[in-house]
Amino acid sequence: MRKNIVAGNWKMNTTLQEGVGLAKDVNEALSKVNAACDVIICVPFTHLAPVNAVINPAKLGLGAENCADHKSGAYTGEVSASMVASTGASYVILGHSERRQYYGETAETLKEKVALALENNLTPIFCIGEVLEQRENGTYLEVVKAQIEDALFNLSAEDFSKLILAYEPVWAIGTGKTATDDQAQEMHAFIRGVIADKYGKEVADNTSILYGGSCKPSNARALFAKPDVDGGLIGGASLDAESFMGIVEAFN
Ligand code: 13P
Repeated sequence: MRKNIVAGNWKMNTTLQEGVGLAKDVNEALSKVNAACDVIICVPFTHLAPVNAVINPAKLGLGAENCADHKSGAYTGEVSASMVASTGASYVILGHSERRQYYGETAETLKEKVALALENNLTPIFCIGEVLEQRENGTYLEVVKAQIEDALFNLSAEDFSKLILAYEPVWAIGTGKTATDDQAQEMHAFIRGVIADKYGKEVADNTSILYGGSCKPSNARALFAKPDVDGGLIGGASLDAESFMGIVEAFN
């Protein structure tokens, strides 16, 4: 059966020293509780190896926030999936709306990134989600369906089963405006149906679908109680060990 997961996305926050300190705090807090979900932190590239050195991998997973769409070579400033894997990280966020919006990521580049991540045994945390206008004009379900179909439906069922999905309505990211638990449930159940139509019920039932967008300790419990919401991808609230742990504990 699918896993419950709480993953932090630190985005472009923390210096190396601050990040290592935050990772240590989360690691320490996790050592004192029996978390009822998998816990992951996704951190800037510069922080991966030093953070990996201070966390207990049995309790806390580590991921990057992106990787390149090429294997290696003359791509100045890029970081490849194999480089990410060589730090000890096991996950990579792909297709975050901020990458789509500010760095022009498309379904075509994302296909390459997903393939390279999988080749390097990284688990992609693949993000999808509509913008406010699409929510308001009622096209949000078809928008998200197309994002999944266009970037992921070239995968075999075996490879698709390795993914974690994250539904992040763009209008809820960093805005303090959370999707209601019913809005999240509607979309998550829809996504599971889209997966079932393509890969069958078993693959769909085994896919973890996380919610992201202004998730915090005060709303996590209600969101995670919904049958198709399998956890969260947490931005702002993952930058403080106590609030991040408050969300982890929503599963206890
Ligand atoms: P916030 O939790 O800050 O809204 O960010 C969500 C997000 O984008 C996680 O990837």
